[in-house]
Amino acid sequence: MKTSGQLVVLGSINADHILNLDRFPAPGETLTGRRYKIAFGGKGANQAVAAGRSGADIAFIACVGDDDTGERIRQQLADDRIDTAPVSVIPGEATGVALIFVNASGENFIGIHAGANSRLTPDLVEANSESIARAEVLLMQLETPIESVLCAARIARMHNTRIVLNPAPACALRDEMLSLIDIITPNETEAGVLTGINVSDDESAARAAQILHEKGISTVLITLGRRGVWLSERGQGLRIPGFTVDAVDTIAAGDTFNGVLVTALLEGKEMPDAIRFAHAAAAIAVTREGAQPSVPWREEIEAFLKRQE
Ligand code: RIB
Repeated sequence: MKTSGQLVVLGSINADHILNLDRFPAPGETLTGRRYKIAFGGKGANQAVAAGRSGADIAFIACVGDDDTGERIRQQLADDRIDTAPVSVIPGEATGVALIFVNASGENFIGIHAGANSRLTPDLVEANSESIARAEVLLMQLETPIESVLCAARIARMHNTRIVLNPAPACALRDEMLSLIDIITPNETEAGVLTGINVSDDESAARAAQILHEKGISTVLITLGRRGVWLSERGQGLRIPGFTVDAVDTIAAGDTFNGVLVTALLEGKEMPDAIRFAHAAAAIAVTREGAQPSVPWREEIEAFLKRQE
């Protein structure tokens, strides 16, 4: 029996170590940063937080280490309106870590130590199959083992749970995996890796979307940075621009977009309205530093949209 409006997110949890620099160092060069901080992140957790703060009824399947960081992250996720019962604590493992450089333009470089995220196994997914089966939507990314993402997608398909995949970080995917997805949300780089098309404008985005449709995905949404998103539904495409703001840090902008998009779809918003709502959330996120500290609450998204009227 489906639970109306229920979202399950499956994905990673990281502690982000963020160093702000004037510019990125060249190979072999050492630079002193302007600021350093540790903030909660991980693509899965960021998307779960974006969904939770924007009002979704959400459970999160993930793993943390049996360390102090893992405990504090679990508490923070619960404060963000997320059911953390399916977050497993892995004995003897460290919580995932991301090392992030941010330059003065707000761009970033990220290196990951998977830690406990690598222990999100198909067995663990199977143990949570009931919540995937009951959910309306399953939202995933690619920062946890691919065989577990595939396992979750198979369970979801068997129980008519809609599957949304944010294929980040970029990774080639087997046709079976692609054929199980209902909505895919790559950025330009990820769309390129999945399709072999160099996505640089609306025309190339439309061609990449067409290839993904041919793999069996009905809705393709390619995020184009400042230019907004290319939305293609069963071959009919259009670009939906985003909002222009002064970006200070783009970490988790895509994650915020994905989590909020799914909240809006679960509320029954039409796709273009859901995208506008998600664009607003991402626009707020890029004006703030860090991953989860930058994710807005619903009231902030609504106030932002009101100011645009
Ligand atoms: O998408 C941003 C996230 O990527 C960061 O929070 C970092 O943890 C990496 O997973």
